[in-house]
Amino acid sequence: MKKFAVIGFPINHSKSPALHEAGFNELALEASFEAIEVSPADLGSWLSVNMIDYAGVAVTIPHKEKMVDLVQKLSPAAKVIGAVNTLYWEHEVLHGTNTDCVGVLRALQTEVPNLEDKKVLLLGAGGAARAALFTLQTAGAKTVVWNRTPEKAIALAEEFHATAAESLSALSPDKFDIIINSTSVGLKQWESLIAADFWTPHHVAFDMVYDPLETRFLSEAADAGARTVTGDQMLVHQALEQFHLWHDMELEPEVMGNAFFLAD
Ligand code: ATR
Repeated sequence: MKKFAVIGFPINHSKSPALHEAGFNELALEASFEAIEVSPADLGSWLSVNMIDYAGVAVTIPHKEKMVDLVQKLSPAAKVIGAVNTLYWEHEVLHGTNTDCVGVLRALQTEVPNLEDKKVLLLGAGGAARAALFTLQTAGAKTVVWNRTPEKAIALAEEFHATAAESLSALSPDKFDIIINSTSVGLKQWESLIAADFWTPHHVAFDMVYDPLETRFLSEAADAGARTVTGDQMLVHQALEQFHLWHDMELEPEVMGNAFFLAD
């Protein structure tokens, strides 16, 4: 039986086991999926002792950046993003790649199939923002990055040939098609970085926060008639891409989508 796992610290919140087990059941695959807590100090030794037992491992916070230096081969996307969220073996060589960027792309494509020349406002400049900006730039979107700490937005925008905005209140709503929240604002709290009167029916709002699924950011966007993309879409689509890499099989998105709602 093939073994898979997700490693992180802490790990009890992870929905990865539920999503992948739903895929195993759907396709009658004989495989197991564990959630393993690995402390940052133990990451290197865990990998050298245990990785050999696993066909694939998902990597989550806070190990994604450190993993870049621990794999034997890095995908071009993981290299540019500077983060690895998926490990797999090829010819006994440990590969590290990043499926978060595919998750962002497929999530956005549920409402906007073609991102070319779309004007995007990206809130945040952390790891999730890097994956989003890689995707947006690759797809030909025109992105403005805003971050609470402006220096980080400026550095990120420069690295990816995007534009940085210093003040949110100075931005005009009609300059944007898509607004993405990649910050933790809205996570388990009724807060939004975007004023309610910013939203218009022309906008698409995408929130990476998925706890709760209906954030203030999305709720106020929807009230104004904007279309919305919820955070579960990104999680499910990055996991679907992992599933495809590990098993070379396609899975209907609904299989993992339903598992997301059933998992606590
Ligand atoms: P992730 O990997 O999920 O992106 P991260 O790298 O810790 O997590 O980044 C968190 C992001 O949320 C950052 O952009 C952070 O802004 P700072 O760079 O200024 O810290 C943003 N963030 C967190 N709390 C915030 C708040 N209360 N208001 C605005 N932005 C916030």
